[in-house]
Amino acid sequence: MSEHKFEFAYEIYNDIAELTKEDADLLIKARSVTKQAYAPYSNFHVGAAAKLVNGEIVIGTNQENASYPVGICAERVLLGNAATLFPNIAIDTIAISYDSKEVKSDHPISPCGMCRQSLLEYETRTYKPIRLILAGQEGKIYIIQTVKFLLPFAFTNTELG
Ligand code: THU
Repeated sequence: MSEHKFEFAYEIYNDIAELTKEDADLLIKARSVTKQAYAPYSNFHVGAAAKLVNGEIVIGTNQENASYPVGICAERVLLGNAATLFPNIAIDTIAISYDSKEVKSDHPISPCGMCRQSLLEYETRTYKPIRLILAGQEGKIYIIQTVKFLLPFAFTNTELG
């Protein structure tokens, strides 16, 4: 028997003023695009903003449906937008924020399992780690250097032959 361990480092910032201007601008964008979410069922409005390596900004918001499972998260809307508008251009950083009528938006949220899977394949196929900036409308901000950290033991296309 041999024991193994997954471990990763991430950064915590207390205020947006501690971020670089580039990161701060992306987070401001993610916070503001929450207004474009269609989330009448959960009232949980998620906004995501990506900076691509070519400097373009692409956004995504969650889009729900009366048939609940049909809804799609902000992160996967963003990836679809990025892949369609700028095929094969890697994403450098994605900022993710939220707003809600039910809960305070005062701490970071992190992508759901399904989005982690999609984000991971995006960074793999573009050969570029995607940095994540996670934050509410206020409160602490987390920065994670690669999606890979969020999905240990991932199932990937290398298994498919
Ligand atoms: N949601 C996202 O868009 N991204 C996340 O990272 C977490 C959850 C959406 C899905 C659903 O529309 C609502 O938030 C509540 O789960």
